[in-house]
Amino acid sequence: MSYAAITGWGKAVPERILTNADLEQMVETNDEWIVSRTGIRERRIVSGNESTTSLGTAAAREALAKANLTPGDLDLIVVATATPDDFLVSQACLIQAELGASGGAFDVGAACAGFVTALSVASQFVNGGIYQRVLVIGVDTLTRYIDYQDRGTCILFGDGAGAVVLEATESPRGLLSTVLGADGNGHKHLYVPGRTKYVANSAKLVPESADIFTEESPYMKMNGREVFRFAVQVMGDAAAEAIHKANLTLDDVDMLIPHQANLRIIDAAARRLELPMDKVWVNIDRFGNTSAASVPIALAEAAESGSLTEGDNVVLVAFGAGLAWAAGVIRWGTEGIVAKPVPAEEIALDATAVAAE
Ligand code: ACO
Repeated sequence: MSYAAITGWGKAVPERILTNADLEQMVETNDEWIVSRTGIRERRIVSGNESTTSLGTAAAREALAKANLTPGDLDLIVVATATPDDFLVSQACLIQAELGASGGAFDVGAACAGFVTALSVASQFVNGGIYQRVLVIGVDTLTRYIDYQDRGTCILFGDGAGAVVLEATESPRGLLSTVLGADGNGHKHLYVPGRTKYVANSAKLVPESADIFTEESPYMKMNGREVFRFAVQVMGDAAAEAIHKANLTLDDVDMLIPHQANLRIIDAAARRLELPMDKVWVNIDRFGNTSAASVPIALAEAAESGSLTEGDNVVLVAFGAGLAWAAGVIRWGTEGIVAKPVPAEEIALDATAVAAE
């Protein structure tokens, strides 16, 4: 069996920063409440020409450069997103076009659990020997669906993208275990009504009214307390199960990279895994909850900072709308990666250069 090592990583966030002080001007809230209840100080939000496509493409380019690959080397692109720029064309196809890549391209939808879910899907193409090089992107621009009059949601979310490149190796690297779960009955705790209405009407083939997009709010609705209760339970349980499935113990864990939804939820997961907070990657203070981008942004930061070394066991865990959750253990490093073959034209050029010397 092949393993799917992570050989490249990247991230992209919008330029515009929305601070807690900015939010104080928009809704009845304050910095002290937001920081103490969530850990968030600021978040990035899309503006101007920024989009799910632009952020995803920027993160992908960074990941490809890190892996020393070009878009043409990719066999497949898998994108996790709940906020595609087009309802019909997959986000993966839009990003593929921007990159100038070829091969397969499709989306995975599991809201904030999307990236870990997509990583498990993509890894299986490599594990099964079907593909050698796969790009996985987690990207969301949820702030486009946030009501900035609703203090229960507008303080939480930001936009961004993170990406990784997977390459086949015979050494045990990349995803070692996967835990996926969902409780569809929980869909009512976190959803966007306007879109739900559209789907319900389309199922009847002929819409009952022409204003299907405007009948219901186009903004996210959330039962924060219910989601919080669910998250505290599931983050720790799913992470512990992923560690067990990888035949590891809590002592073997070098780092936890959790979905950045609320610092109190992250604290609870760390306590459940008996991990000190210096082994937990936290960036929620700077980015808030970036949905499917949250785990890969944190992973890219951890890798970039040099905090991950060859052979480290890293636990990824996320939860979100659905309600859905996903966890996995990755073994960091590139052991056994066979260097990309040099293209025939480059060999020919080299030969010409040698002949000319
Ligand atoms: N500023 C000031 N006060 C506020 C704010 C705010 N922004 N929001 C709520 N309050 C008030 C409430 O009105 C309430 O007042 P009351 O006691 O007078 O009624 C009080 O603060 C406490 O409200 P709670 O809702 O109980 O606050 P809680 O501690 O649960 O924090 C929060 C709310 C931050 C939303 C929390 O429940 C949470 O993080 N839930 C999880 C949400 C989440 O992670 N969602 C993303 C899922 S991922 C995805 O798929 C998109």
